Amino acid sequence: MQGKRVLLIVSGGIAAVKIPEVVRRIREQGGHVRCVITEGGKQFVTPLSLAALSEDKVYDDLFSLTDENEMGHINLSRQADVIMVAPATADIMARMAAGMANDLATTVLLATDKPVICVPAMNVRMWEHAATQANLETLKQRGVTFVGPVDGDMACGEFGMGRMSEPAEIVGALVNFFNAGPKPLAGRHAIVTSGPTHEPIDPVRYIANRSSGKQGHAIAAALAAYGCKTTLVTGPTALPDPAGCDVIKIESARDMLAAVESALPADIAVCAAAVADWRTDTAPDQKIKKQAGADTPALTMVENPDILATISKAGNKRPPLVIGFAAETNDVVANATDKRTRKGCDWIVANDVSPSTGTFSGDSNTVHLISETGTEDWPTQSKSDVAQQLVIRIIRHFEAAE
Ligand code: C5P
Repeated sequence: MQGKRVLLIVSGGIAAVKIPEVVRRIREQGGHVRCVITEGGKQFVTPLSLAALSEDKVYDDLFSLTDENEMGHINLSRQADVIMVAPATADIMARMAAGMANDLATTVLLATDKPVICVPAMNVRMWEHAATQANLETLKQRGVTFVGPVDGDMACGEFGMGRMSEPAEIVGALVNFFNAGPKPLAGRHAIVTSGPTHEPIDPVRYIANRSSGKQGHAIAAALAAYGCKTTLVTGPTALPDPAGCDVIKIESARDMLAAVESALPADIAVCAAAVADWRTDTAPDQKIKKQAGADTPALTMVENPDILATISKAGNKRPPLVIGFAAETNDVVANATDKRTRKGCDWIVANDVSPSTGTFSGDSNTVHLISETGTEDWPTQSKSDVAQQLVIRIIRHFEAAE
């Protein structure tokens, strides 16, 4: 996104609180951001914070003599490569569809000749309302593209479609937009495993672990953003599906292996899932009952298939680049180095998951990349930044091999 200019229109929804993070990430990728904010938007995020992060003036007034003099509503859009409306409320979508120009944001949108990307965010009923759906259709027909919304918990306490996509996905969509020419991973296929597995004890009980899936999902989103056909095989998580990925949802380790094998062939496999090492030897079709006087049931465990090791040793079906994860609580690098050889994968991303690090459910990660050529220690960064950095390594690996 180096040197690209994004005009970001911030309208008034609670999701606007995530926009400073979007601005930060665009800047981090080398893009320029200039913000226009509506009166509603100002109720949720301050122009000052957007100005500080974008290092630019924030525009809000259609009738400001100074702004019109300095910039003008026509120039605001002419000087951008793309306009993004995020969050796009039901109201601004309606005004866009109707061609209104009753504030600076809608005037810029009506006057622009640049591509427009909308990132909707609203209550599920507002999203599903026939009026919003008709506006959506109208805008799509006029060439506006959409990122999200996604399914999930809403600030209003309801659950459903209407939640704004996460900042990493929004910026991924921009990266996609700017990479519309040849994309570095176009023509390649990646399989990513993510999340925990659930191993049934009976139809209502299962064994699970604390994996959130955040790291694996972020890697899938980053691969897709660079043009890679991405199959995400995920255990149960609370996360929305990442943009641009084929998502296969499974529960158990055996389901995960079957899904991964059916998704082959692939150029890249990233096994980020926290697969359960064991399952119970039987899982009866009926609920195990508590019976007065009877012994407590004993669970006998058997080993699950190791997906990473299986595909690393899959002969001519082995993806040329297989990447595993190693969650360790001590001797992180030594144990992970050993794991790389044992599992037969090419790279291992090793991280410390001692409870004090908060890695399992948290948003940041401190990792070491272990390959044939040695170990790199990466600084603590967000899981989506770890994903970006890993995908950039993957791109370089294929470029070097060509
Ligand atoms: O042996 P360990 O579970 O620590 O190895 C972690 C790596 O192996 C991760 O990449 C994980 O996704 C993968 N794994 C797997 N199948 C298993 C166990 C682990 O793919 N049954």
